Amino acid sequence: MTEPPAPPLLRVQNLCKSFGRKPVLRGINLEFAPGVTTVIIGPSGCGKSVLLKHLVGLLRPDRGEVWFQNTRIDRLDETSLGPIRREIGFLFQQSALFDSMTVGDNIAFPLREHGVEDETIVASRVARVLRLVGLEQCLNQMPAELSGGQRKRVALGRAIVLEPRCILYDEPTTGLDPIRADVINEIILRFSRKLGITGIVVTHDMASAFKVGDRFIMLHGGKVHLEGTPDEFRTCQDPVVRRFMLGEASPEELAALRGSGDDA
Ligand SMILES: Nc1ncnc2c1ncn2[C@@H]1O[C@H](COP(=O)(O)OP(=O)(O)OP(=O)(O)O)[C@@H](O)[C@H]1O
Ligand SMILES: [Mg+2]
Repeated sequence: MTEPPAPPLLRVQNLCKSFGRKPVLRGINLEFAPGVTTVIIGPSGCGKSVLLKHLVGLLRPDRGEVWFQNTRIDRLDETSLGPIRREIGFLFQQSALFDSMTVGDNIAFPLREHGVEDETIVASRVARVLRLVGLEQCLNQMPAELSGGQRKRVALGRAIVLEPRCILYDEPTTGLDPIRADVINEIILRFSRKLGITGIVVTHDMASAFKVGDRFIMLHGGKVHLEGTPDEFRTCQDPVVRRFMLGEASPEELAALRGSGDDA
């Protein structure tokens, strides 16, 4: 007998969000199964970061629902969201480190915020996380002394220090050279394979997407345009998906560029 599928860790139902008169999410339905790494792709401005922020209650939907396991979270107040946020790490698009704190204190920050006061426990959790992201030697350095790739790794350490069930990665490799980007990919794989963490990765970096993703979703026009396996995306003939994956402008975009007249 086959096992029934595990219930989703996160789920959104008919999620709608506008800013002013501009609709961004127009009825998104998605489920995220435990242990699976989902990659979300889609054009700039299509609402990928907005979707991630709804999953941790940083934004409230106009309509629709957000669930973490059996808890509906889109209406919870900040206090009730606390225990849910502990289960969901967030790597922000800009690493968002505290520049006045050492690497160690940056990583320890969520522990202290969540009331871990025993400094021996804090030190051992920080040391373990630094090993996981390969930055043992950086404990006492300041963020300004680090490269972009190292800063991302500190942010990854901070996202995982509370031992969440799930991590949301918003463009984890953007701005890094291919080697540094691959170090981040390896850390994401390590979190997923060694620690069983569910991943949701928003990215424009297709090499990274294919390396870490078990499942792909493309957002377009405020909707889920396509959902499938990496192979289904690789071989997909849909022009919107193909152009995005190959990095080609559409005929309309090229016509608009010619229309702008700079190269006349
Ligand atoms: N707090 C906000 N107030 C007003 N508009 C917002 C807010 N957050 C996002 N938006 C708008 O929502 C749209 C989607 O933004 P979002 O940041 O989710 O795009 P994205 O898909 O993550 O793009 P990128 O790939 O460039 O990061 C954009 O038009 C953005 O200007
Ligand atoms: Mg974004």
